[in-house]
Amino acid sequence: MLKIRRTTDSDRSAISDIHMSAFGQAQGQEIVELVNGLLGDETAKPLLSLAAEKENTIVAHILFTRATLHHEQQDVSVRILAPLAVMSEFQDGGIGEALISEGLKQLAETGVDLVFVLGHPGYYAKFGFQPAGALGFAAPYPIPSEHADAWMVQELRPGVIGNIQGRIQCAGVLDQPRHWRE
Ligand SMILES: CC(C)(COP(=O)(O)OP(=O)(O)OC[C@H]1O[C@@H](n2cnc3c(N)ncnc32)[C@H](O)[C@@H]1OP(=O)(O)O)[C@@H](O)C(=O)NCCC(=O)NCCS
Repeated sequence: MLKIRRTTDSDRSAISDIHMSAFGQAQGQEIVELVNGLLGDETAKPLLSLAAEKENTIVAHILFTRATLHHEQQDVSVRILAPLAVMSEFQDGGIGEALISEGLKQLAETGVDLVFVLGHPGYYAKFGFQPAGALGFAAPYPIPSEHADAWMVQELRPGVIGNIQGRIQCAGVLDQPRHWRE
């Protein structure tokens, strides 16, 4: 059975193992640094870090961190989903889906309006994400045109999309061009 729970500091090394397994040696190292940086980044808070456990072992991890969108008339609560990883031997079994769904549910319950992701359009469209650029939301850094559809958004409060546009500012650790290239 799959159990989803918030992570704690004692999960750090298990979380690193998951990202190394899912992303491979070269990219994995960069993602592990990103995750550790974000977990300690005050500008990323409030954040939501969830792990999926099978038989008391963590097999997947998802992180949502705070972002901002300046708008004169409305306060908008924004999060960015990054990263998500499922250990290679547990992929394609619905675990990524379970983590995304549970994360979005918890964020909606806490009043988050918009969630952004830079990821595989074919995968995230299944969860209600849609290309964000065409809706007027610029990424923190320009996304190369061949990956433009990978910058996606989902509203958790109906009526936000269409009424608000602008550039998203992310947490400090994520605020580096190299995290926005693909
Ligand atoms: C991408 C990832 C998070 C998906 O989680 P998962 O638990 O393996 O996937 P799920 O069981 O939720 O969903 C499976 C479906 O997603 C599809 N899928 C998996 N990886 C995909 C990808 N990179 N692009 C598009 N679709 C993908 C599968 O083909 C499958 O499709 P189907 O339901 O039509 O058969 C996971 O495979 C992973 O960690 N991959 C390596 C790391 C990575 O790329 N993370 C970044 C995500 S932006």
